[in-house]
Amino acid sequence: MSTHNVWTHKGTFLLAAVGSAVGLGNLWRFPYLTGENGGGAFILIYALTIFAVGIPILIAETMLGRASRRSPIMGMRFLIRTHKTSRAWESIGWLGAAAAFLILSFYSVIAGWAIHYTWQMLTGSLVGADAATIGAGFDALLASPGLLTLYHTLFIIASGLIVGLGIHRGIESGLRIMMPALFVILLVVLGYGIANGDFGAAASFLFTFNLADLSLEGWLQAMGQSFFTLSLGMGAIMAYGAYMSSEASLSRTAFAVAFVDTAVAMVAGLAIFSLVFGAGLDAGAGPGLMFVTLPLAFAEMPFGALIGGVFFILVLGAAISSSISLIEPVAAFLVERFDLTRPQAVFAMVVASWALGLLTVMSFNMWAETSPFHTLFGRSAFDFIELLTNIFMPLGGLLIALFAGWALTHSEAMKEMRTSETWFQVWRFLVRFVAPAAVAFVFLRTIPQVEGYLIPAVGALVIVGAFAAGRTFLAENSQQQ
Ligand code: TRP
Repeated sequence: MSTHNVWTHKGTFLLAAVGSAVGLGNLWRFPYLTGENGGGAFILIYALTIFAVGIPILIAETMLGRASRRSPIMGMRFLIRTHKTSRAWESIGWLGAAAAFLILSFYSVIAGWAIHYTWQMLTGSLVGADAATIGAGFDALLASPGLLTLYHTLFIIASGLIVGLGIHRGIESGLRIMMPALFVILLVVLGYGIANGDFGAAASFLFTFNLADLSLEGWLQAMGQSFFTLSLGMGAIMAYGAYMSSEASLSRTAFAVAFVDTAVAMVAGLAIFSLVFGAGLDAGAGPGLMFVTLPLAFAEMPFGALIGGVFFILVLGAAISSSISLIEPVAAFLVERFDLTRPQAVFAMVVASWALGLLTVMSFNMWAETSPFHTLFGRSAFDFIELLTNIFMPLGGLLIALFAGWALTHSEAMKEMRTSETWFQVWRFLVRFVAPAAVAFVFLRTIPQVEGYLIPAVGALVIVGAFAAGRTFLAENSQQQ
């Protein structure tokens, strides 16, 4: 059964995909990764990957959604049936659902920090504070499981409510209000950064390319970030693609999404580094860049509390427009597969992800170093969950590229793309060969981190593979009778 929901407007998919793509990845992760990796060279690799790998996979993922018009798991089942290919491709849907749970669980905790800082800014508590005070404030926030859980809960409830209202009344209407507001705020913050900060230093930091500055690790992180920032490889784009108007152009839309997403990251980077350099602070603070360095810059500037508050509202809005796209694929699956109502499905997804998020909450305090989890897996629960998503997202992207490139026929893919034969061939070459090779390269990064689990993981894969092969064999033999 397919529900055949379609967005109200031809352009809504673009709005929704931009909402999903623009998030903490652009405002929080991109600036600090760029800061840690020395600026321009990192951005060069990031941008190249977006164009050569990100856009082709974005097209592929949207195509699978629109061609099946179902939630990712049911959609893959449908495509497998209609193409008589291996059941193993269904793993695209399952990997995506797993990744959605995992990402939402920590995304919501981190977005929760922005609630705290919105509050702190708007109440003026940080005006004139010095580095030690602001640093201690951040440490105190992380040390408090109660506060972190409260913010995490508020954020996930807000996201759940929007998705629970349905794709038209909740997601579309929400995005139509939020997204324009976010762009306005971003421009205000940029203007403020130019007026009060050191724009020249920010621009030369971001746009001076010296490839020699970039380590292999930085290179791999840049490629990983380009997947993360486009929300690729985990079904979010596929789920939204299922509602995409048949008239909208896949390639033009994908270019627009990638362009806006990259532009937002650049503008956010320019604004943040203008303020950071203007206040004479250091760009390489890591994950604390937005929550320690930036509040410090705002603390010293005129109207800093107000603009800082508005900035953290931007962070929150961008995070919510992303988190709703993490809930949608799983909720849509539960509705299609188990006939749940939408509110029930959203509730189930959100409660499970919320509970998983408590592991992330605890990794910053009670469970920091000494927990059984830490001993068992050699890292905190948060780092472990992030590691898993760093495996699932590229893996999902790889499988999506391969399925769209090899399993779909020329005429079928062309029917969705409706472009010139030349551009079609370029796309097909990219998803068949270039994207898989690039993803394989990104995996290099995870190998040293997963060495310890390699043998059990391969063992598990062999067992699952044998089981799947056995089932296929039985199914084929019973058909012949
Ligand atoms: N793209 C989002 C960001 O930049 C993060 C993200 C990754 C995401 N995968 C996703 C969001 C899937 C929604 C759905 O913040």
